[in-house]
Order: sequence, then structure tokens, then C-alpha cells
Amino acid sequence: MSYARDGCSPSPRPPSIALKSAAPKSLLLTGATGLLGSYLIRDLLLDGRKLAVVVRRSRKQSAAARVEAILVHWEETLGKRLPKPVVLEGDLTQPLCGLDADARRWVASHCDEVLNNAASLTFRGSDRDAEPWRTNVTGTDQVLSLARETGLRHFHHVSTAYVCGLRSGRVTEDELDVGQQFGNDYERTKVEGETRVRAATRAAGGFLDSATIYRPSIIVGDSCTGWTSTYHGLFAGLRLGHTLLTRVVKGTTSGPALLGLIGVAPNDTKNFVPVDWVSAVIAHAVQTPPARGTTYHLTHPEPLSMDTVGRLIQQAVEAYSKDASPDDPDLCDEQWFADNLGTQLDIYKSYLRNDPLFDRSHTAALVGHLPCPPLDMPSLMKMAKFAIDHEFGRKSPLKTAANPSPAASTPPSVARS
Ligand SMILES: NC(=O)c1ccc[n+]([C@@H]2O[C@H](COP(=O)([O-])OP(=O)(O)OC[C@H]3O[C@@H](n4cnc5c(N)ncnc54)[C@H](OP(=O)(O)O)[C@@H]3O)[C@@H](O)[C@H]2O)c1
Repeated sequence: MSYARDGCSPSPRPPSIALKSAAPKSLLLTGATGLLGSYLIRDLLLDGRKLAVVVRRSRKQSAAARVEAILVHWEETLGKRLPKPVVLEGDLTQPLCGLDADARRWVASHCDEVLNNAASLTFRGSDRDAEPWRTNVTGTDQVLSLARETGLRHFHHVSTAYVCGLRSGRVTEDELDVGQQFGNDYERTKVEGETRVRAATRAAGGFLDSATIYRPSIIVGDSCTGWTSTYHGLFAGLRLGHTLLTRVVKGTTSGPALLGLIGVAPNDTKNFVPVDWVSAVIAHAVQTPPARGTTYHLTHPEPLSMDTVGRLIQQAVEAYSKDASPDDPDLCDEQWFADNLGTQLDIYKSYLRNDPLFDRSHTAALVGHLPCPPLDMPSLMKMAKFAIDHEFGRKSPLKTAANPSPAASTPPSVARS
């Protein structure tokens, strides 16, 4: 069965055996402006779920304008209008996520559960007052405090499959801290975040009726369109290959040679999942009350070999990156190549290590009707092309409406009660 049924439209609605809640109240979502968050907005709204989002302002845009840009993008892409989420300006690192008393009263009367998807994806940082600790640990605490104060009793939390750290062998969905070593600080913060959410359940003496944990592996672009808005993981290696090809004379290196330099074995495997599938599974679980209280490995049943990753980088940069011209005054020499690679090596080494086997029994039982789309060379090349065309984030991937209607251009404000 093909995952995207009619070109590039969202996932199919699950079959009727799934128990769908009437869900008259809103779901409070964090991290709505990120890669996964923008898909969650789309899928949950299409599924009829009312949403309230906690979003921080950027240097140039208000929180409401940022959410509006995402909605305009989806409305243009889907060719249909979507209901508007309520936008609450906030920041997870602030007490009670920075929501004032009015906003909190609104949440208390209009929301019934929370999906904490926001995180800092900064890999390194040992200072617990800085990222990734501030958002992933302190921020999770603040979302929990907000949930406690506003009476939200069902907590959905996006973690990562890499809470397993440097473990090898089979890793089950019920395991968390088994004394494993970690590859980076990000993994440590995600373990602490999960631990705090679990500790807040009634079963552990806390206030939550349920804590549902989602652990994706490395999220890549849309399996159908290649769309992405962030460039971690797979794209980091691709970006390095692209940068090298556009800064040094062709033939200086290659994708497989790059991975060889980093010390990656061709038969090692890495687990990548397309963002549209991750979002579809989470949206389905959120809308299915019996799914609550479980941990799900949102991982691909068929991980990619590092040999495939190396070949992808090679093919993609050869097909889509512009070669450096020998006359280019910005052309870099071998020393630049060595220095540049040297500074990045450690990050990639810890990231591209061989994966353990992620047991996905809970996920398979929940979403047997939503198989993870295969990540074959054509779909990976589409993602690589998208990343290179959008200069790894220098060009915004969000469509902008030529003439947004007044309703679409006026984001809703918080209803005060
Ligand atoms: N990407 C992956 O490969 C991957 C793999 C496994 C798990 N995950 C998990 O999946 C979730 C979503 O990741 P993603 O890939 O969508 O990341 P992303 O694109 O970087 O998005 C992160 C989101 O979190 C928000 N955020 C960060 N710090 C915040 C703060 N202090 N207050 C309010 N909002 C804050 C960001 O807001 P701004 O737009 O304002 O920065 C953004 O909306 C995260 O929990 C992540 O740990 C990701």
C-alpha cells in the first residue's frame, strides 16, 4: 500500500476500529513552529481536533504571525481552509511557560490534554542553565507545572529513540534508564525529560492520569514531497558533502570517502523516519484514548545502511550541488577541507554510530494500518534536492499566500474568559 494515496496528501484516516474520542476541548501543543510541529498542526486540524499552541515570538515575527505562516502554507498546499488554532505566546523556559493568568485561565477552561513536542536539538552543552537543558528539562518541568495548574491530566511527550544512548542489541519501548552511556548531552536531557514526565503520573505518585511517550528515530523530510524545515541528522552529512563540493574542486572527496574519514562502517545502520509518518502516528495516538499511557518507538522497520547514506550524499551533491569553479576566488584548499572536517568530525562520529535494534511492538500494535513508507533512493533524493534547493534553511520552505484572505491573515488571539 502506498503511504501517500493521492500525490502528496496527508495520511489516511485510521480505520473505524480505532476508538476516536469526541474531544470537544482543545489540545495544547508546544513546538508547533518546528518541523514535526508544523505537520502535527496540519494532521490534527484535518482530523477535527481543536488546537491551542504555545509559541515564542521570533526576532522578526509575533507568535501569531509565525503560526499564520504555517497555516497559509498548508492551506495553499491542500487547497482548503483549516480551522485556526488559538495562539498563546510563551516560552518553555519561563515559569508556567510564560503564560499570564488570563492565558492560564483560558487553558484551564478550554484544553483537556497537552502534547509537549518542543525541544532544543542542540547536541552539546554541559551547563544545565543553557540549552539543551533549559528547554528539554526545565522546559518540560514548566509544561508539567502548567498542566498541573490548569488541570490537564493527559500528557503526551515527544522524546527520542536515542534515549538509549550508546546501547547496542535490542532496546524495548518500556526501557529508559538502564545505566547506559550517552553520545551527547541532548540524549541526556531527553532521558531526564522523559523521567520527569513519568514521575508525574498517578502511578508514580503524581497528578497525571496518563503519560504517553513518542520516541522517533532521526526525522527526515516528507516521504512524498521531500519538504523539510530543519536540517539535522541525515541533512547534516549531506550539507557537509554539499559544502565541500561547492568549496573545493570536484574529486577532492566523495560521500563514501567522507563517511570513511568519519570512521563509519558501510554495514552499520541508522534509523531514519519521514516526518509525515511520525506526525500521522502521533496524531492517531493522540486521538485514540486507549493508546494513552504507553511508550512508542517511532522507528523505521528497515534502517538504512551507512553505505546507502554515503551513496545518497554522493549522488545528491553530484546531481544538485553546483561544482566549485577552478576560477572561483572563494575556492578553498585542502587545508580548509581538513580544518573544516576536523571541527565537525566529533559531532558526526557520535551521531552516525551504529544503531541498536529498536523494538517497535507497541507501535506495530497501534498503527498496523499506517506502515512507515519505504525510504528508497528516489524518496531520499527528493529530500536531498529539497534541502539543496532551499540552501539548508537559508530559503524559507513556507509558501506565502499572494493574497491571504482577511480571516487567514488575522490570527486568532487568546479568548479571555
Ligand atoms: N528532528 C529529529 O531528528 C528528531 C528525532 C527524534 C526526536 N525528535 C524530537 O521531536 C520533537 C520535534 O523536533 P523537530 O525536529 O520538529 O525540531 P525543530 O524543528 O527544531 O522544532 C523545535 C520546536 O520547539 C520549539 N522550542 C524550542 N525551544 C523552545 C522554548 N524554550 N519555548 C518554546 N518553544 C521552544 C521551537 O520553537 P522556535 O521555532 O521558536 O525555535 C520549535 O517549534 C522534539 O521533541 C525533538 O526532541 C526530533
